Amino acid sequence: MKFNKICVLGLGYIGLPTASTFATNGLKVIGVDVNPRVVETLSHGGIHIHEPGLRTLVEAALKSGNLTVSARPEEADAFLIAVPTPFHEGQFAEYEGRKYKLADMGAVTSAAEAIVPYLRKGNLVILESTSPPRTTIDLVAPILERSGLKAGSDFFLCYSPERVLPGQILRELIENARVVGGVTPESAQSGRDLYATFVKGRIIETDATTAEMVKLMENTTRDVNIAIANEFSRLAEKFGVDIWEAIRLANLHPRINILSPGPGVGGHCISVDPWFFVEAAPELTPLIYHARLVNDGQPHFVVDKVQQALGSLGGKKIAALGLAYKPDVDDLRESPAVEVVHLLQGEGAQVKAWEPFKPDANLKGIDMTPSLDEALKNADAILILVKHYEFVHLEPNTIAAKTRARLAIDTVNAWDADKWEKAGFQIVRLGVNKS
Ligand SMILES: NC(=O)c1ccc[n+]([C@@H]2O[C@H](COP(=O)([O-])OP(=O)(O)OC[C@H]3O[C@@H](n4cnc5c(N)ncnc54)[C@H](O)[C@@H]3O)[C@@H](O)[C@H]2O)c1
Repeated sequence: MKFNKICVLGLGYIGLPTASTFATNGLKVIGVDVNPRVVETLSHGGIHIHEPGLRTLVEAALKSGNLTVSARPEEADAFLIAVPTPFHEGQFAEYEGRKYKLADMGAVTSAAEAIVPYLRKGNLVILESTSPPRTTIDLVAPILERSGLKAGSDFFLCYSPERVLPGQILRELIENARVVGGVTPESAQSGRDLYATFVKGRIIETDATTAEMVKLMENTTRDVNIAIANEFSRLAEKFGVDIWEAIRLANLHPRINILSPGPGVGGHCISVDPWFFVEAAPELTPLIYHARLVNDGQPHFVVDKVQQALGSLGGKKIAALGLAYKPDVDDLRESPAVEVVHLLQGEGAQVKAWEPFKPDANLKGIDMTPSLDEALKNADAILILVKHYEFVHLEPNTIAAKTRARLAIDTVNAWDADKWEKAGFQIVRLGVNKS
């Protein structure tokens, strides 16, 4: 199937690189976003998100005349939906005493509704947003069929998960294997034809629900594996073992790969997507549910550790290093580091937070500092929450000269304990209990 013009709904971390890559590969692309600020910024040649290389790509796409930005869709050969799928903040359901979070599919619903007036026979629609199982068949198809056209026979309909890594999106978009699940084999074939415009990795055709499950299984596997690492770190503390040494030794086994414990799991994917399985089948997902609880409970575990190290938290001054949800990114969404800071403050500690990737972040109730030195000034303890490259390479002697704190708490195995002890620090590490 040949595509000349496509419409991409949602111009965020996924939609904007995708729309721009199609445009620079010769397709006419209408990029649609409901946020007027996004449309205005892009229309004036600006960019509203940070991703290496994206500015240059968007500029090239706009300059070529192939990418235009609009608040509304228009007729096209294909429609791609890349809108957010968070969970409902503060809304829960319960199954046998297990309280779980609920997916907010409002953006997918309204994006599908927006396509209906423009849908024509022979068009292709692809949902890329990470979604609960059967969303394509049970939610999106019925909405699109309000056009009077039938999914799979009058128009093609697919689910294709996005599996790119933030920081590497532009390369991975092209090189990663792409799973394309159709509501019919012809739909999958049509989806393949569209992605073949630029995808250099394998394109694998399957059905829509399998493709939805693939994405959720990938992220859930990470979550469960991190949960077991976190639980191991709690056990190590109980038995006086250094978890990092134990993991290193266990991972010498050729079929074992234990991940790293830490202050929890964040971001908008791994900490969110497992809930989609739990909501879809609470009776079948006790493991996934409990893994989520372990990871969501990890910030409390860190706070207990800090409390033990400091004796009490009331009035104590803590320099918190890092607020991002993972190393070397500026994304603070669902970050466990932010949660740790809130919890410490709730216990009466005075926390100054330093996040080099977003020093001016406006987080309710959190005292951000403009520099590391400012955070260290007058601190009673230094707490590292994110393994940013620049934190790993801090020189303890230099730090010692900048602060009166002589207690360093390492939750991410960033620092060489011997080096910090030689520089005069007492070092406390997550997953290690020397007493
Ligand atoms: N960011 C990632 O690394 C990543 C990776 C894999 C999968 N995903 C999934 O991709 C989807 C999109 O994620 P994202 O990170 O790009 O989100 P995002 O928040 O960066 O961007 C989404 C954009 O969609 C717009 N939008 C919301 N409702 C809309 C509508 N009805 N019509 C048009 N535009 C609308 C928003 O204004 C926003 O600009 C999510 O389901 C996410 O889970 C994201």
